Amino acid sequence: QFDIVRTSTLTKPTIIPHRGASAYAPEHTIAAYELGETMNGDYIELDLQMTKDNHLIVMHDETVNRTTNGTGLVRNMTLADIKQLDAGSWFNERYPRLANKAYVGLKVPTLEEVMEHFGNDVRFYIETKAPGVYPGMEEELLRILKKHEMLEERNVLIQSFSPDSLLKLHSLQPDLPLVQLIPSASVEEVTREDLKDMKAYSSGIGVNYKKIDEDFVNVAQEESLFVHVYTVNGKRDIGRVMEWGVDGIFTNHPDLIPEK
Ligand code: G3P
Ligand code: CA
Repeated sequence: QFDIVRTSTLTKPTIIPHRGASAYAPEHTIAAYELGETMNGDYIELDLQMTKDNHLIVMHDETVNRTTNGTGLVRNMTLADIKQLDAGSWFNERYPRLANKAYVGLKVPTLEEVMEHFGNDVRFYIETKAPGVYPGMEEELLRILKKHEMLEERNVLIQSFSPDSLLKLHSLQPDLPLVQLIPSASVEEVTREDLKDMKAYSSGIGVNYKKIDEDFVNVAQEESLFVHVYTVNGKRDIGRVMEWGVDGIFTNHPDLIPEK
């Protein structure tokens, strides 16, 4: 696929607790993000959805079905509707051995609530999810980042599978660091030219480690893109991608990444 020049980078990767330390606490709750911080996470990773009344909330899916006790599409619900939901009990029911009474009744946070809770001393790794479903999502995100002085602090990365969403952000805020997520289904088709195109607006890429190898990592790094791999949950696989010299690891188990 590529002409290779080998590099060796055995430095400790950036630890990105995926949806918080989501192996141990309900994903995308303050509890999961706090645990991620405790487990030496370098970022708080959050996915965005937007309510009917244009509030950005943190949730992976377009529906509330999987991670709350409600049903329905976020885009058809107001923030007041969302705030009625229990975002923690599902975890206790699904993972009884990890159940914790403190998770019962947890709320779905807004992006702003997460920022207000953690302040400016932590780093945020924010994904525009389903941006085609939510016109104005990028503008609202930039408004919030500016309000919370996140742009000046240089403590935020924005990721998306959507090149259109990233290009829009790049045109609105050219100095904002962006990460192009590459869908698992198409990563094997990615060429060096494609990586050069991504470099025009993106600082790094996010890829499924199961679909790449060390050569792919080396080529992306040669093109001055950092490489963050998702979602690596076992010790052996964490060791393997560290051997490749990846720059960062999305993981539900941040505690499994060795100190050195
Ligand atoms: O955000 C990085 C990667 O984990 C993307 O996958 O679906 O968990 O947001 P997802
Ligand atoms: Ca994500």
